[in-house]
Amino acid sequence: MAEAGEKETPEQFEKRFSTLVIHGFVSLSTSLGIQSGLFEALIKLKDEERTVKEIADTAGLKERYVKEWLGVMVAADIVDINPETEKYSLPPHRIPFFQSGSSVSDLGAVLTALPIFGGVYQKLLDCLKKDGPRGLSYSEYTDFHSMMSRFSSRWVLNHMVQDFIPSMPQIEEQMKSGIRILDLGCGRGSASLVFAESYPNSTVVGLDFSQEAINYGKERAKEKGLTNVEFVCEDAACISEDWNNTIDYIYTNDVIHDLAHADKILLALNRILKPDGVFSMIDPDCNTKHSENASNDYRSRLYTMSLFHCLPISLFFEGSVGLGTCWGREKATEFLKDAGFRVDSITKPVGSSQAHYMCTKKVK
Ligand SMILES: C[S@@+](CC[C@H](N)C(=O)[O-])C[C@H]1O[C@@H](n2cnc3c(N)ncnc32)[C@H](O)[C@@H]1O
Repeated sequence: MAEAGEKETPEQFEKRFSTLVIHGFVSLSTSLGIQSGLFEALIKLKDEERTVKEIADTAGLKERYVKEWLGVMVAADIVDINPETEKYSLPPHRIPFFQSGSSVSDLGAVLTALPIFGGVYQKLLDCLKKDGPRGLSYSEYTDFHSMMSRFSSRWVLNHMVQDFIPSMPQIEEQMKSGIRILDLGCGRGSASLVFAESYPNSTVVGLDFSQEAINYGKERAKEKGLTNVEFVCEDAACISEDWNNTIDYIYTNDVIHDLAHADKILLALNRILKPDGVFSMIDPDCNTKHSENASNDYRSRLYTMSLFHCLPISLFFEGSVGLGTCWGREKATEFLKDAGFRVDSITKPVGSSQAHYMCTKKVK
């Protein structure tokens, strides 16, 4: 790696590029291990050394393929091998990164986006062409909502009522006494369900235009016996005038940058929020200018997510503002202000890499 201010040599770039290519290949195999249940099998077998057959049998998979996968994992130092016995183990300190529902990390869930993006690769190539399609519909992405809820529920379950809502003491008090909450673009509803369960005096509306995601939320609410949450399948661009000044708290996680008509929907959110209500917009944390995101590994991942998902699903709709995941603090603030919000603070919630824009209505 070149030192700051130094010119990079071809050899230095080759080294960096080689690492990037290797990590790409290993990521794909790691994702296969998560989806196929191989990591689960290794976790079930504890950190004791096991044969290929024992691991394959525990996962219910073919031994020959499992052997090849273990080859990748050993070469990449993810699974350990005892050279004397040729037996494999997953050391305890790595387990939480591959455990579903882990409170430690959501990296495993992020990795499962790779095959979903792979599934749209050819169609995305067409979108790039001048005469190609505008974008891609959500239905092109197999299993998107399950990946998304795996990804977002770790933070929701471990931080929402533990530290996020308490970081806004006034809202917390109101939620305890009973208010009307909207979780816009709720997906499978992990946040809506936590709000409803934790604040039984409040009523919660989870709204999303995916029928599949809404059905999932409804099922979970029924299983939990929750009567203070309603899941509504609707396009946020069509929120009725009847909702004007009826919502005390609006929550969006990872939604606004995806909206084809974010400008109009922000105006609608302003219209339905009560005059003293609060809007929490949680969205990826970036800067708007590319130059301010330079040499930032995390943001390079966000831009990839944008290129393969957030941007094409937004551009799919006619008249889309096409924000992309990395629209950034500057543009987001501008959109919020234009919709009539005052951005009271932009902070990073505990345990999250996102930005929380806490907004109230501008006094007219
Ligand atoms: C990235 S997902 C986030 C889901 C959820 N908030 C979470 O944290 O798991 C964005 C969600 O916005 C929904 N969405 C996008 N455009 C919408 C629109 N115009 N109206 C309603 N929902 C929309 C999608 O269906 C999807 O569930």
